[in-house]
Amino acid sequence: MSIPVGQWLQMLKTDGADSTGESPISQYFQNGYDLPADRTRVFERYQKLTETHVARFNSAEVNIARAPGRVNLIGEHTDYNGLPVFPMAVDRDIAAVFSPRKDRKVVIANTDPGFTERSFEIHESIPPYPTGDWGNYCKAAVQGLLDFYRRKHRDADRFHGFESTFNGDIPSAAGLSSSSALVVLSALIFLASNGLDMHTTPSGRLELADLLARAEHYVGTQGGGMDQAISLMGRSGHAVKIDFFPLRTRSAPLPKEYSVVVANSMVKAAKTAEALDKYNRRPIECRLAAAVLKKTFSDTYRREVPIFLLGDLKEEKLAVPDSEIWKIAGTTFHEDPYTLGEIATILGQTAEKTAQLYCKRRDGSIFPEPEDGFKLQQRYRHVIEEGRRVEQAVQALESGDILHFGELMNQSHSSCRDLYEISCLELDRLVEISREAGAVGARLTGAGFGGCAVSLVEDKRVETFIHQVINTYYRDYLKRKDREYGSMIFPCRAADRAAVLGEIKLRRDRI
Ligand code: GLA
Repeated sequence: MSIPVGQWLQMLKTDGADSTGESPISQYFQNGYDLPADRTRVFERYQKLTETHVARFNSAEVNIARAPGRVNLIGEHTDYNGLPVFPMAVDRDIAAVFSPRKDRKVVIANTDPGFTERSFEIHESIPPYPTGDWGNYCKAAVQGLLDFYRRKHRDADRFHGFESTFNGDIPSAAGLSSSSALVVLSALIFLASNGLDMHTTPSGRLELADLLARAEHYVGTQGGGMDQAISLMGRSGHAVKIDFFPLRTRSAPLPKEYSVVVANSMVKAAKTAEALDKYNRRPIECRLAAAVLKKTFSDTYRREVPIFLLGDLKEEKLAVPDSEIWKIAGTTFHEDPYTLGEIATILGQTAEKTAQLYCKRRDGSIFPEPEDGFKLQQRYRHVIEEGRRVEQAVQALESGDILHFGELMNQSHSSCRDLYEISCLELDRLVEISREAGAVGARLTGAGFGGCAVSLVEDKRVETFIHQVINTYYRDYLKRKDREYGSMIFPCRAADRAAVLGEIKLRRDRI
């Protein structure tokens, strides 16, 4: 599985080719990295990363793995509600050079001095570092896999650790899912280091994505499954519609004459404890809304109607005609925010019980009632309408109606701003400027509260688009005076899924 360091360096220096002309690297990067400059950018990074790893760990043989970030084209905060999303994996990744260890220790280093080295032992229950520590993303993956294999009667003491050095070029805290890329990558390293091959088949990758979505809750977020799934199922040149519970994917080719351009608002959406609470409030509000709907439907039909997620509002699931569903659901919520007490009364239970059932953080503490109340109607509307927009957007893309696709992106942004309240002034301004600069559609992407906007732009307008956004947003609005804006605004290509590169050759894997 591991390959001599010299051989990797040789391949990386010669645009991916080895002496036979075919190498894991050339096989993997043949799609999605079409320009020689794109490949050089990656190979130079990997080369430096390999050298840094060897200098630190003195390894003679190593493996290289990578997991891409993603940009979500449409479908925000729908995933944990059981409704679809439509992202693509991008040509920016977190990469790792690694080697298995004989003992049960995991040692992780990072080329970014902001992320200092961490090490921990593999055992049944791995205690997390403090909130926000980068090592928690690796621990999340390892703990998730340990839990999974324990159910298959393989205990923690039968696993090896690994030593690994990471380097990423996905802007962090930008809504491009660098954290889930790190979780996915850590999982691949753990599996490869232990001779396990779950990640080498499509069904195995779906299972892995599903378990890693839950595993990532270890870091404190109550996110859904989009980010892990797209990192593991992405396909070059395609966006991927992802449905949940059960997880399934379908890829759709991106339009030929258009580019996806990402622009960072430069408002950091970091995962501090405070930011986690902002994010987690939304899944909590959605769970509360689903509980209220369950009560309303059960009372109406005098039977237990199985609504656990907002995405359960479906004729086939509830055995209630569609027209009835929307009639009842549409009049269930009032516009004013709800207090916990009011929700508890509706549910016929105490406020403590309601909080225990629906408002828990991962550490068991109770999420405090927001001062402005629980906005059940607004959250409900966003989620249901956004789910419908995803279906329409996939159809629009498949039928070549790009203008309609753009319009749906614009509607999605308005809904994220007004109903789900996950935008901010800077993102709103950036989206506005992007449309003025010629985007057929523009919206915030990812969890929100800062991070990036995504725009769909005709190829022939990309250059002037970028130029105008730099001038109007970064220079005039943010008053920045950087010489270079290439790390803040850039076109993204849809890239292939995460992989352990050293395994591609051995298995003749089809990407
Ligand atoms: C984060 C979460 C995802 C999803 C998005 C919002 O990226 O990790 O699961 O909820 O926010 O769409």
